[in-house]
Formats: sequence, C-alpha cells, structure tokens
Amino acid sequence: MGLMMEVRNLTTYYKTRMNERICSVDNVSFTLEDGKSLGIAGESGCGKSTLAMSVMGYYFPPLYYDSGNIIIDGKEITSLDPDVIRRTVLGSDIAYIPQAAMNALNPTRKVIHFIEDVLEAHDKGLSKAEIYDLARERFAVLNLPEKVLNQYAVELSGGMKQRTIIAISTILNPKVLIADEPSSALDVSSQKIVIKLLYDLMEKGFVRSMIFITHELPLLFNVTDDIMVMYAGEIVERGTAKEMVFDPIMPYSKGLMNSIIVPEEGTRGHVLMAIPGAPPNLKLKHLGCRFAERCRFADTECSKGTVGEQYGGAEGRTYRCHHKLEELFQLYEKDIPNLLDHNNGKINGAGDEKN
Ligand SMILES: Nc1ncnc2c1ncn2[C@@H]1O[C@H](COP(=O)(O)OP(=O)(O)OP(=O)(O)O)[C@@H](O)[C@H]1O
Ligand code: SF4
Ligand SMILES: [Mg+2]
Repeated sequence: MGLMMEVRNLTTYYKTRMNERICSVDNVSFTLEDGKSLGIAGESGCGKSTLAMSVMGYYFPPLYYDSGNIIIDGKEITSLDPDVIRRTVLGSDIAYIPQAAMNALNPTRKVIHFIEDVLEAHDKGLSKAEIYDLARERFAVLNLPEKVLNQYAVELSGGMKQRTIIAISTILNPKVLIADEPSSALDVSSQKIVIKLLYDLMEKGFVRSMIFITHELPLLFNVTDDIMVMYAGEIVERGTAKEMVFDPIMPYSKGLMNSIIVPEEGTRGHVLMAIPGAPPNLKLKHLGCRFAERCRFADTECSKGTVGEQYGGAEGRTYRCHHKLEELFQLYEKDIPNLLDHNNGKINGAGDEKN
C-alpha cells in the first residue's frame, strides 16, 4: 500500500465582506495511505469542513487558497487550472459528501439527472442508456431500488436520501472520498447503515481511501484506521484510532476524548472532563499555543513563538504541545485528584455494566 494523498503546509482562508481574513486551515500537513481511512475530530468551528473543502483544490469565494501543496496519487493538484480540476479531479480523484448534503439536492430534478451531471462534467462520452446502466449498478451495490432513479429528493426518506447522495458522489469511483458528518442528521440505526455502506464501497474497491469527519468520537473509534484532532485551524494530534481514544497525548485531545458521553466498549473508566471556554477567534494572529487560554497545564512557554508538532512515541504519531511526552504524563498523573474533584469524585462509566 502506498501513499494516496499528501497535504503539505496547506493554508486557506475566508475573506469577509469587511475584507477580514479568517484563517480556518493554517499550515496543515497530513498523509493518507491507499486503502486506509482517516477520521477528523474537533469542536464545532475548528475547521474540519474547511479542510475538507480545501483539499479538493477547487476554491470559490469566500474561500481562498493561500499556500501549500495537495498531491493525490502522485498528482499535484494545486498547480492545475480550476477548470481542469473541475473536469478531471473532482469526483474521480477526490469526492466530497458535504455536511448539509441531505438538504442540497434540488427538489425539482429527478435523481438520475444528478448522476448525469457528474458523468457529463467529466466528459466521459456516455450515452443516456450507458449512464442509466452505471447508475443502476451503483444503486444495487448500495441496496437502493432502481425506481429511486426516477424519483425526486423530496420523495425519499432520510436514510434513502443519504444513500442516494453517496451513490451520486461515488459514481466515478473516487480515489479519496471525504464524508463530512454523513450520518449526523440520521437516527442511530440509519447512521450505522450509512457508515457500513461507505465501508462496503471501500472494501469492494469503488472507493480507495476515505476521510471521515464527525463530532462523534465513538463513531471514529469503530470505523477509522487513524484519527486526527483539529483545533483552531491546526492539526494538534494524530495517531491510530486506538491510540487516540485510549492514550491521547495533547491536553485538548485528551479533553475531547475524555468528554465522550456515550462510552463505547473499552472506553469506560475515562474521567469525564469538560473543556472550559471557547476556541479562539480565527480572525486574529496567534502567538504560541492556540489552546493556551483553555489549557489547565499552560505556563509561560505556551505563549511564545510557534508551538510545533512533536514525535508522539510511535510511527505516524504526532502532537502539538511544547511539553515532552514524559512531562505531560507527569502533569496528568499529578492532576487526577483535581479532575476527580471537578467531577464530584465520579469517573465516567465506572461501575456500570459492560455494553
Ligand atoms: N463562508 C464562511 N465565511 C466566513 N467564515 C466561515 C465560513 N464558513 C466557515 N467559516 C468560519 O471558519 C471556521 C471553521 O469553520 P468550519 O465550518 O470549517 O468548522 P467545522 O469544524 O466544520 O465546524 P462544525 O463541526 O460545526 O461543522 C469557523 O470559525 C467558521 O466561522
Ligand atoms: S503548549 Fe501549553 S497550552 Fe498548549 S497544550 Fe501544551 S501545555 Fe497546553
Ligand atoms: Mg463542519
């Protein structure tokens, strides 16, 4: 398995009507292996969706590209003309299921027309009958009845609509599929079905690698190989799903992981910990660690210069904090009595029956 995607020092920003710059993706670098899935977690507003849109390489106001590289399967896409990206990259090299996709389907058009749009934009020279056959095949893989092709979005249930969106987004068999909160609007059983379908598409080779964005950390733990945590436009930690859930290093990811409300099997026993305060304003330039105002371990070092990423003790494991690993573990060890105090002496899930 080789590298499917590499993002190097990517910076993108929103320009407001007042000409202010909101830097929602700031010097972000990461890699995605062929055949692997990567989860992105973080609080609302930390830049997850902006990162997803930015790595497509196709920008329109108010989102702008500043600097950095995006390489998909060996192809550098940031240097390509936007029209070339639209015709040859979007949908086939990389496809995106947006956060609000459920409400985005034009209610006046039949489902088959959305599929025609995607295929025709890529100029595949297919006849209407060939397009219909392709759509029917993809619908069968996703357990969608053929009749849906001739229906309007308003006629579909939530789960059916989400599967239809997945069919439209993956019709060109993308190398990388980004699913942005694909299940948050659904009930729990529909969520599980949607996630399973996405992974079936990967297993069957229709999608090579996947980036999965959600607030729900227990979901990431079960479905992704690796997890990255974002905070205020930066990646603050990365590791395998198991490492990130059981041994988060950086204080913000530790707080995020420990705030899991519905414990998955094996995550019981974590101290349930709230993160006080709110993320910083992304319009401002930041000196030092962006988490400093909310971090219980902050000291004078934290507000100096740039806090870079450090090696987290295993291959591919990184975290952003000026403390060395051993120092952080010592700080956590000393802090446990305070945490217990904070939570009235209770440890999340302790003493409960196992799921
Ligand atoms: N169109 C826009 N114009 C200006 N600023 C924007 C725009 N869209 C998002 N932002 C800002 O960019 C930052 C990152 O937003 P983004 O939607 O990427 O966060 P997110 O992590 O996906 O949040 P959520 O979990 O709520 O979906 C936020 O501060 C947000 O206010
Ligand atoms: S650099 Fe300082 S403020 Fe940032 S996470 Fe580490 S200890 Fe906390
Ligand atoms: Mg979002």
